[in-house]
Amino acid sequence: MSLNPPGSRTTKAQTNTPDWWLMVKKFAKHGTSIASFAPSSRFLSRKIVTGIDYDKAQCIVELGAGTGPVTKELLARAKPHTRVIVVELDPDFCTRLRSKFPAAEIVEGDACKLSELLLARGIPQVDHVISGLPLPSFPAPLRDGVIASAAKVLHAEGTFRQLSVMPWVYAHIYKSYFSDVRFKFVPMNLPPAGVYVCKGYAPKEEAQA
Ligand SMILES: C[S@@+](CC[C@H](N)C(=O)[O-])C[C@H]1O[C@@H](n2cnc3c(N)ncnc32)[C@H](O)[C@@H]1O
Repeated sequence: MSLNPPGSRTTKAQTNTPDWWLMVKKFAKHGTSIASFAPSSRFLSRKIVTGIDYDKAQCIVELGAGTGPVTKELLARAKPHTRVIVVELDPDFCTRLRSKFPAAEIVEGDACKLSELLLARGIPQVDHVISGLPLPSFPAPLRDGVIASAAKVLHAEGTFRQLSVMPWVYAHIYKSYFSDVRFKFVPMNLPPAGVYVCKGYAPKEEAQA
């Protein structure tokens, strides 16, 4: 899945524009693969990274970082021994992320290929996967692929954490992949939003490609 044509370049305007405007432009251009016209609030961004045992975590992955509101909170909490890998498909968002977080490992790539992307970096397992991907708007086989790829590398005790701006509406989707799904509501976001914290990959038949 590609958001920009091959060989497309990041323009000066794209590096100078505010985050919210970059997000609006990407939303207008790519619609459902961005699925949000504004970056997540700091309340939502903090919620998705809360509850992680940062002393224990060796590796945490973020998928679909956009302009980096969650990345910021994650990097602020991660301990020096924790490797943080940020995977983003859109090259302009990657440019933005690299300029904001020069020391971070920003990988321009497709979340569907997560296990391959990690293996290429010598990472067989991760403790948590934090997703800002618009999974409900992905075609089912693509969604299956992303979640299966994340589950393949996720530690048995690890969590798959998913942002959602449609509180509770998509719970059934995550319950079709994981045996333990909890929702944390975040009213202080426009629109009100929340976070699914999922454990125990156990896809039901209808969740498989
Ligand atoms: C709703 S935005 C979330 C941005 C950010 N996490 C936030 O909370 O503001 C979804 C992001 O997922 C990225 N994305 C969509 N499909 C992807 C894929 N297959 N692999 C990696 N990133 C993807 C989009 O480029 C976009 O940055």
